[in-house]
Amino acid sequence: MSRRRLGAALLAAGLLSGCAGPAGRTAPAAPVTLQQAFAGAFLVGAALNQAQFSGADTASARLAVEQFDAISPENVLKFEVVHPRPGQYDFGPADRYVAFGEQHHMFIVGHTLVWHNQTPRWVFQDADGRPVSRDTLIARMHDHIASVVGRYRGRVNGWDVVNEALDDDGGMRRTPWDTIIGDDFVAMAFRFAHEADPAAQLYYNDYSVENAAKRQGVVALVRRLQAEGVPIAGVGIQGHYGLDYPGLEQLDSTIAAFAGLGVKVMITELDVDVLPRAVRQTGADVALRAAARSELNPWPALLPDSMQQALARRYADLFRVFLRHAGDLSRVTFWGVTDAQSWKNNWPVRGRTNYPLLFDRQGKPKPAFDAVLDVARRWAGPSNR
Ligand code: XIL
Repeated sequence: MSRRRLGAALLAAGLLSGCAGPAGRTAPAAPVTLQQAFAGAFLVGAALNQAQFSGADTASARLAVEQFDAISPENVLKFEVVHPRPGQYDFGPADRYVAFGEQHHMFIVGHTLVWHNQTPRWVFQDADGRPVSRDTLIARMHDHIASVVGRYRGRVNGWDVVNEALDDDGGMRRTPWDTIIGDDFVAMAFRFAHEADPAAQLYYNDYSVENAAKRQGVVALVRRLQAEGVPIAGVGIQGHYGLDYPGLEQLDSTIAAFAGLGVKVMITELDVDVLPRAVRQTGADVALRAAARSELNPWPALLPDSMQQALARRYADLFRVFLRHAGDLSRVTFWGVTDAQSWKNNWPVRGRTNYPLLFDRQGKPKPAFDAVLDVARRWAGPSNR
């Protein structure tokens, strides 16, 4: 048992903290934390923001350490943050993120190396603002990956190497990476990352992959990479869900399809949007924006109990599917710790009050937390698959 797991077990047994569970509740019979509840199944992670690993938001940092055994950086390892100008790297926040994960013995994810969003325009342009040549962009990609992955060699456990390279129809998305370099930018990114840290797990990460066309696109992409000997270790299913999408059967068969490729499968950015849909799409295209209207923000003060219960049922359903695939899923990561910091408060409409996670704005466990723990308690273990 790792030091961390041992700590979690002692905590659950009430030996470390008296009998107070998360947020001061009386500890029920074990398990009391997410990481402990799913210890035999998969890692449970959360995306952290700067305030949490830099010591400003100690309450949610404490909650994260208590509940999760994996972390992802919500923004600090994205290109625009870590490499804002040519030749200028700013590793301060990312260093603190990695140190936080090490200090707490967590599985540390790097997110993300090659993406078309949150990447400065200069990356794709020359001094006159014209598109750079293929060779120049390859050289810039190599420099970026070698510098960032190389800095954390042996410390970051897994990298989302390429994020969202596919369109909803399953074809390659026409981003500057793709149009300037060609479809093989994906293979190159993986090779560069492997060169910089041969021990790191390397992943492809995307949203809406539960939809048939995009799922086929991912399967084809992974097969292509594998045929070329590209070191891809896993596929990340982002998991930005709603109460009614994706269907459970769709999710179930998607996990099975990816696992069938012989790679690790992860849920990497889980949240469940309870607010009225502001756009037709169910994906997570961060460039999408919709105007604020009061009917799109129906619960600015409090989520009604009926909705709390609906959210709890939805989370229970999702985790039942995840546990059915415990042997295939290596990690389930939430995109945030509490509802207060979730990106869903500002996307695709700014300034709404959303309730997508398991902990409320005060960091207290919601009915959905209890429902998820209950599903774990009823799970018969890996042998029952
Ligand atoms: C989001 C962050 O949560 C926001 O803070 C940021 O403004 C935009 O990006 N898919 C991804 C994540 O892969 O990196 C995105 O994170 C959410 C969608």
